[in-house]
Amino acid sequence: MKRHTDPAAPNTGVIGIVQISDLHFRDAPGARTFVGHEPDDGLAAVLADAAPVLTGAAMVVATGDLADIGEPAAYERMGEVLGALPTPVYCLAGNHDRQDTLQACLPRPNVHLEPAVRVGNWLMLFLDTNAHGREAAADGTYRDRDDRVHAAAQPGLTPIEEDRARAILAATRADHVFVWLHQPPLAATAPDVRSYRELTELIRDFPRIRAIGAGHLHGDLSGEFEGRPVYVCPSTFFSIDHVNRTFQGPGYRTYTLRPDGRVDSEVHTVPGAISDTMRAAPLPVFLADLLAGRITGEELRALSDAEFEERFGEPRPMRRP
Ligand SMILES: [Fe+2]
Ligand SMILES: [Fe+2]
Repeated sequence: MKRHTDPAAPNTGVIGIVQISDLHFRDAPGARTFVGHEPDDGLAAVLADAAPVLTGAAMVVATGDLADIGEPAAYERMGEVLGALPTPVYCLAGNHDRQDTLQACLPRPNVHLEPAVRVGNWLMLFLDTNAHGREAAADGTYRDRDDRVHAAAQPGLTPIEEDRARAILAATRADHVFVWLHQPPLAATAPDVRSYRELTELIRDFPRIRAIGAGHLHGDLSGEFEGRPVYVCPSTFFSIDHVNRTFQGPGYRTYTLRPDGRVDSEVHTVPGAISDTMRAAPLPVFLADLLAGRITGEELRALSDAEFEERFGEPRPMRRP
């Protein structure tokens, strides 16, 4: 990880940001993925829809689950797409990402993995909240656990990440801080409050944190944590209407950050064939449980068809070939 610098930025006006999340890229465009929709097509549809605002935005933030299972080619391929955008892209890891591979394969001109960046009188703080999916090696470094996808369903900070965040926050001269992370600290979806104790303390100790932007839940959600607004971004791959329990098309968020610390955000769902196809399909109960960490992929696979139907009240969808 590069050392963070916090130069005084000249721009003190309104800041526009585009957030994308949960790209779930695979190593090849035709790789089969959930519900038969292509991550490549979803990202392309989102970027085409966002094109008019991208040129005027200060940055794109990509809040994790960039790759589905973390192959090097997945990061290389998305890097080519993101690197060609007219706006700098700042990325962070989600519970699906493989951190070593992500760091080795994604960064390039215009595509950044940084702990923080200053824009006008705001500091963007990019947190790695995948502590529950990481384990400490003997040399003090952290590695991904094999069960990281489920283990890191709720946000947490390793001691190294917490120390880094505190050092950055203590040193910044920015008036306002926007925290970007993967798993949103919302009680409805992350009920184990111990899992984000560090985040609570961070906000209490650094009240200049004004808002939190997250992904992970693949849906248009918002809430509040420690008195700060929490914005959840839809996925560019497949998104979910969590209220009506249906699929939605791919989507993204736009933000306006003002010099006085106020934040406005808007969700955009991309129209078109992908959206129409997905909207017709009701959301399977098992998928909602999987996203919220109530069941693991291994536990799902271990259920017989009869057990599956008894638990979820609906038959198991066709298994992948
Ligand atoms: Fe995701
Ligand atoms: Fe996730």
